[in-house]
Amino acid sequence: MHHFKYQNNELYCEAVKIRDIAKKFGTPLYIYSRRTLIDHYQKIKTAFRSINPLICFSVKANSNLAVLKLLVKQGAGLDVVSGGELYKALKVGVSPKKIVYAGVGKSEVEIAQAIRAETLFFNAESFAELGLIERVAGRLGKRVDVALRMNPDVDPHTHKFITTAKMTNKFGLDAKTCEEIFLRACIFSHLRLTGLHVHIGSQITDAQPFVRAIKKALVLIRRLKERKVLLKYLNIGGGLGIVYHDEKPQSAAEFARRVLPLLKKTGLKLILEPGRFIAGNSGIMLTKVVYLKKTPNKNFAIVDAGMNDLVRPSFYDAYHEILPVVRNTGYGRRNTEYDIVGPICESGDFLAKDRNLSVLQAEDLLAVMGAGAYGFTMSSNYNSRPRVAEVLVNKNKFSLVRKRETYADLIRLEIIPRKL
Ligand code: LLP
Repeated sequence: MHHFKYQNNELYCEAVKIRDIAKKFGTPLYIYSRRTLIDHYQKIKTAFRSINPLICFSVKANSNLAVLKLLVKQGAGLDVVSGGELYKALKVGVSPKKIVYAGVGKSEVEIAQAIRAETLFFNAESFAELGLIERVAGRLGKRVDVALRMNPDVDPHTHKFITTAKMTNKFGLDAKTCEEIFLRACIFSHLRLTGLHVHIGSQITDAQPFVRAIKKALVLIRRLKERKVLLKYLNIGGGLGIVYHDEKPQSAAEFARRVLPLLKKTGLKLILEPGRFIAGNSGIMLTKVVYLKKTPNKNFAIVDAGMNDLVRPSFYDAYHEILPVVRNTGYGRRNTEYDIVGPICESGDFLAKDRNLSVLQAEDLLAVMGAGAYGFTMSSNYNSRPRVAEVLVNKNKFSLVRKRETYADLIRLEIIPRKL
């Protein structure tokens, strides 16, 4: 499933000792495995090969240019949600015809940028947004493809913050409204409403909610066909869950087995937008124990990475496995329960709670597993902490793919007015 493995009690990424990477670049640090990224992309590609879909990696999961370039070289397209992501996508040389642009709040400027770049289509989420795309396209003298995002009103059984397909969520439009808009599409002279988009949430471990959502999409597609409205694209979004702890997610092959029969019937070009499935288990965040602190109730391991570096535990109460980079064999294999906490001035600053780990010492290196998706991309400068470096491992070699920020970077854009 991934290429972070122990050899003689020492954690490796592919053929590189994690400790060697830490020696060179320090900690905290994100480390990605090239092989794992490619393997996961290939798993989806192979599972769906009978219909040759466009697999658009969801840039929000991991937007490092080296990671994007690697996937684009494998044939991936990119799913972007902002002008910044579009900029990065174009920088890595992906064909604009492999870029899909989603998001509930695209600004006028962002819409113009995407139209100028000639991206494949927009996933649009409201009538007001269609109006704006229409106006901008008109101004630029272009006609653009748009997929309407349908909210299928299904419960994907995932964390409430990453559920997108219930009618209480801000995303998409209900099926009836979508149908009405498709039927009135002629009012938009600069849009071609050629696609339907359904993305139901993230970290979904079971195929059933996807099947329910796709079936609802098929009902709409059929109703439209009866009224002579023919679509070109069906975009089923991302959301495939991965193993962080004891989850038993469907494999890409199982997922394809469940949904392919439904999708084939449509004859439409399929678009997928996986993010976490490709990048999640391809990366770790490496951190170092700074202090150990025992209180009457708890053993704390205070590490050099905090919630600004990896926010998922604090934000979603997400579980990330913690592995020692060097397995402790010399302490009679004694184990202790630790809270792994960061240096940030917030009680919510933790990476793991009540973890049974072999006895730790200051300076020990810990790998926070499953940090390749929504890890670095959600990191911040909170507490004026420079964002950490990123490294990509390729077999027995490793390269820095993002430098550690410096203190000078922290103030680069700030201005002190002359008169205060
Ligand atoms: N397509 C759309 C329209 C999306 O909104 C998302 C994710 C994806 C694709 C990719 O989903 P994935 O395959 O990665 O599940 N920060 C959260 C996850 C937020 C997901 C947002 N949308 C986390 O750390 O769990």
